[in-house]
Amino acid sequence: MSSKLFTPLRIAGLDVANRIVVSPMCQYSANDGCASDWHMTHLGMLANSGAGLLVVEATHVERHGRITHGCLGLYSDACEAALARVVAHCRRIGTAKLAIQLAHSGRKGSAQRPWEGGGSLKAGDDPWETIAPSAIPFGEGWAMPREATAQDMARVRDAFAEAARRAVRIGFDAIELHLAHGYLLHSFVSPLSNRRRDAYGGSLENRMRYPLEVARAARAAVPATTPFGARITGSDWSEGGLTADDAVACARMLKAAGLDYVDVSSGGVSADIRNPATPGYNVGIAERVKREAGLVTRTVGSIVTPEQSEAVIADGNADCVAIGRAMLDDPHWGWHAARALGAEVERPLQYKRVGPALWAAAAKKAG
Ligand SMILES: Cc1cc2nc3c(=O)[nH]c(=O)nc-3n(C[C@H](O)[C@H](O)[C@H](O)COP(=O)(O)O)c2cc1C
Repeated sequence: MSSKLFTPLRIAGLDVANRIVVSPMCQYSANDGCASDWHMTHLGMLANSGAGLLVVEATHVERHGRITHGCLGLYSDACEAALARVVAHCRRIGTAKLAIQLAHSGRKGSAQRPWEGGGSLKAGDDPWETIAPSAIPFGEGWAMPREATAQDMARVRDAFAEAARRAVRIGFDAIELHLAHGYLLHSFVSPLSNRRRDAYGGSLENRMRYPLEVARAARAAVPATTPFGARITGSDWSEGGLTADDAVACARMLKAAGLDYVDVSSGGVSADIRNPATPGYNVGIAERVKREAGLVTRTVGSIVTPEQSEAVIADGNADCVAIGRAMLDDPHWGWHAARALGAEVERPLQYKRVGPALWAAAAKKAG
């Protein structure tokens, strides 16, 4: 039986070699938004993971839209040049197609790096005023955000479009918006964080109005052949929050705004809510989104093993799977998945000798 995980996928004008995606993962290692040598190593390594697509971490569209002082940005010529260097490096040495996630932190911004505590920056650590749909903090001990004005919203929308133009210029193969995990765009969608009384609050249509304005502005900056998508919320995992029904409705609205794909993630809307610990906890929601909204659907969340990933694709629950922590744990995850599922992946010439044709002993190796 041949593996479905290792079949190619076409999204808009892009051909991806298989259904494995490296999930975007913040590295908190940028200098004023500029990618560093850490990114050369980290992304260079994961460009050779066997995944068909590698998504660069949340890359913020304005300086005060970063999560931490170490977060990646695409708001200046210096940011663009630094990221262009990393992309050129990954193209030279790697096999994966390259995507980028564009984001604005909203009320989760002005924060410490996780290894510094992860809470709001303290006075003296160069904190900044955060914006959100409503003046409600992310959690206890978090700074109070300011309710975004029409001027803030127009500026951030234009910043998303400008960052998308920069991403196109750098030559990314795909571009996606971060509409999940409690950051600015998700916080507009969720009724738990959006209590506005204007046209941007109230019904789901109203709460989606701003994310859709951003999506349309950024889509217009990206050629039709370049896949343009969004990571969305499958559930807020809280009474009164977003549900799978909302995820289907959001995906339909995004599709109508010209998006080519969605990635179903979940959670993160406020500090006191935890995601389920069950394997593949978003898969059932992704299946509904794929079937009912009818656009290319990726999913993520506690998908760890090759067999589990194979089942998600073979059962038709999603078109591709994003692998996060398991990729950091095993940066050749895709190679090992291919071995386990009797498939093959493209490898760099220098490492060809560990492929099955030239290294029979590999079959005896665990993992
Ligand atoms: C170190 C780290 C950084 C992350 N940064 C991002 C990010 O930049 N954007 C995002 O959408 N999700 C981010 N996530 C979430 C992952 O992309 C993924 O959705 C989550 O870890 C669940 O998948 P997993 O169980 O395969 O790890 C991050 C996760 C980790 C562990």
